[in-house]
This record gives sequence, structure tokens and C-alpha cells, in this order.
Amino acid sequence: MKKIVVLTGAGMSAESGIATFRDSGGLWNQYKIEDVATPEGFVKNPQLVLDFYNMRRKETLAAKPNLGHIELAEMQNDYDISIITQNVDNLHEKAGSKKVLHLHGELMKVQSTKYLDLIYELNADNIEINIGDTCERGAQLRPYIVWFGEAVPMMENAIKTVQTADILVVIGTSLNVYPAAGLINYAPSGIPVYLIDPNEVKAQRAGVIYIKKGASEGVKELRELLLQ
Ligand code: APR
Repeated sequence: MKKIVVLTGAGMSAESGIATFRDSGGLWNQYKIEDVATPEGFVKNPQLVLDFYNMRRKETLAAKPNLGHIELAEMQNDYDISIITQNVDNLHEKAGSKKVLHLHGELMKVQSTKYLDLIYELNADNIEINIGDTCERGAQLRPYIVWFGEAVPMMENAIKTVQTADILVVIGTSLNVYPAAGLINYAPSGIPVYLIDPNEVKAQRAGVIYIKKGASEGVKELRELLLQ
């Protein structure tokens, strides 16, 4: 089985009704990154940050995988698929993808602010965390999200995965945020790299095959191209 590594970003979930970050109407047009997605923002106004992620969680819970997620899961019948996602939603898993690495954390998990290995999965009927919600050792809980300025612990695994790809597919990311955007440079030289996005994205790599479509249409076209 050929190994396909898929790097996904916010555009992957756009057709499921989850806002991207940098498109017009994107989250970073409505909120300041430094207020809600940095350790400093959390120190300054923790409830604002908790509320922001409580809201994101509510949206995610209501969202359904789109055809793009579903087709990627179906492709597991014919290919060895590893997904590396910058998304914190769980739509790849909901669609049935088995190997999913979350580079920037997971919305449905929370973490102790003090004992970092204490990570808890939230269940659907308890998706809020607030000031005063603590881990079993009494420290405040925070969203299990990699904020700007924080280390990306999954990066090493992601690099190893990309290095073993026979085919790399990039879907719905503006490739603005590092180190995630740098992952495409770890793909073995000469392998096919497909980039699915309805808008122009500049990948810093030669020979990229652009599929200028949304995720659902784009993955469908990718499957046809791979059969040829
Ligand atoms: N299908 C595919 N791609 C789409 C669609 C769609 N239907 N709609 C929009 N896009 C594309 C946009 O053209 C853009 O290139 O999705 C991309 C979204 O880019 P960003 O909003 O910058 O999201 P992303 O690249 O995932 O951001 C990276 O930034 O704020 C952080 O941690 C956050 O993980 C996130 C990181």
C-alpha cells in the first residue's frame, strides 16, 4: 500500500461550518490572537480565553464531517493514510480516519496548567471549563491547545511521518504558521505533492500539483488523479 501523508488546516473543516482563521470573516478578524491564543492572554484574562474555547467546543460538537473528511477516511481501504492536522476539531476521527496526529492540540481535551501530563477528555455533556475547574491535584485546567509562542510537542512525530510519505497532500491551510508550514520540506524529494485549496496558496516547494477547489471537490479530484 502506498503511504499518503495528508496535512490539513482550517479549510478542511470550512464546509462543515467551522470558521477558518485568516479568510475574510475568519476568527482572527474577530478576535485578537494575543487575547485568546497566547499564554500571556490567558494570564491577563483567563475567563475570556476559557469562554472563547468553550464556544469553539460547542461549534465543534454540532459540526459534522464533510465529504472531504469522509473521502479521506474511505481512502484508507486503498492507501496507508496518515493525517497530520493543525485543526483542533475531531472531524477526521468522526469520519473514521484512524491515524490522526493533532499538531495544535484538541478542543475536546483539557490540561492541567501545572501538571502538564494531566490531560482529560471532555465528554459531550460537559464541554465547558471555567475558572475554578481543576485537575485532580488542584491546579486550574486550561484548553489542550498549542498557543502561539508555545512549543509544538507533536512536531517531531509529524516530521518522521512526513519523511516516510510516498505522496504528500496538503488541504486547506494558508501555510502561514510555523513550524507546521515547514513540514512540506521534510517530504522525500521527488514525491508527488498535491495542494487542495480554493484560493491561491504559495507552497515553498517546487513541483507542487495544485487542485484549486474546496476540500470536498478537491479530495474527489485527487482520488481520480491517483487512479490514473
Ligand atoms: N476547502 C479547502 N480550503 C479552504 C476552504 C475550503 N472549502 N475554504 C477556505 N480554505 C482555505 C483558505 O483559502 C486558506 O488557505 O483554508 C485556508 C485556511 O487558512 P487559515 O485560516 O490560515 O488556517 P490554517 O492554515 O489552518 O491556520 C494555521 O493558525 O491560528 C492558527 O492554530 C491555528 O491551526 C491554526 C493555524
